[in-house]
Amino acid sequence: MNEGLRRIRRHGVDMEDRIGEEEVLETLRTVLPWSVPVFLAVTDSTNRVAMEMAEDGAKHGTVVVADAQTAGRGRMGRPWVSPAGKNLYVSLLLRPPVPAVDATRLSLVAGVALADAVEAVGVPASLKWPNDLYCGGRKAAGILAEMASDPDGVRHVVIGVGLNVNMEEADFPPDLRDKATSLRIRAGRTFRRVDVLARLLDAFGTRYAEFIGGGFASLRDGWDRRDFLRGRRVLLRRQGGEGWGAVDGLDTVGALRFLPDGASTIESVYSGEILDFRR
Ligand code: BTN
Repeated sequence: MNEGLRRIRRHGVDMEDRIGEEEVLETLRTVLPWSVPVFLAVTDSTNRVAMEMAEDGAKHGTVVVADAQTAGRGRMGRPWVSPAGKNLYVSLLLRPPVPAVDATRLSLVAGVALADAVEAVGVPASLKWPNDLYCGGRKAAGILAEMASDPDGVRHVVIGVGLNVNMEEADFPPDLRDKATSLRIRAGRTFRRVDVLARLLDAFGTRYAEFIGGGFASLRDGWDRRDFLRGRRVLLRRQGGEGWGAVDGLDTVGALRFLPDGASTIESVYSGEILDFRR
């Protein structure tokens, strides 16, 4: 049993999902800097598990994967639909050597890596700031970043990725059917989740190294060419209120360049949520 799994057992989650055959584990072992993933058949939330492991001292590069989540966390306190046997639910534990303000960009870095991975398995993808991956105009994946820091800096960041892989339309709750999609729906075929996971870890390793070496600017191209919002009118909620305006892409640190209706100056928005969009 690997170290991660021993820790998980200590936290009272004792179901182990052996998705991976020997050669699959061997493949994943080669996609440094990641550890061999801790597989759980079911857990409440891989982000919660990874945050707890981080507090217990788990190392940078720890990966937690579940086949199902009973309390998957989405952004803004929303639940993340996480049935068994269909999708990827992955959390990456990072201890980045950067100030907290820079570490907040890691969810954008994960978005670029996720798009790399999805396109590598043959499905065109675009990125909707700040944390969504879209395929064919619908959301196929979301990213939830959670960070712990103290006055000395970042202690750890957990990047959680939920990617709809083999969901069919009927698998989504009715209120999501016209908004959500999956790789299977887009491509008309099923995918081996572990292959997609290997691509994701590989891509994130590359994009993370680029980010640590040169900041978000060094991977901004990877965002720009897939930018779902550039040129659109959006309804943006941010601290201090909400309003419509136009999006002019991202700046070099990953802030949204937003021109509020009636204003003459583009503003840089570092955090917020897109509530609605038009062409
Ligand atoms: C969103 O609201 O778009 C973000 C969804 C993030 C879901 C993933 S699934 C794996 C990880 N564990 C969680 O509890 N949430 C994230």
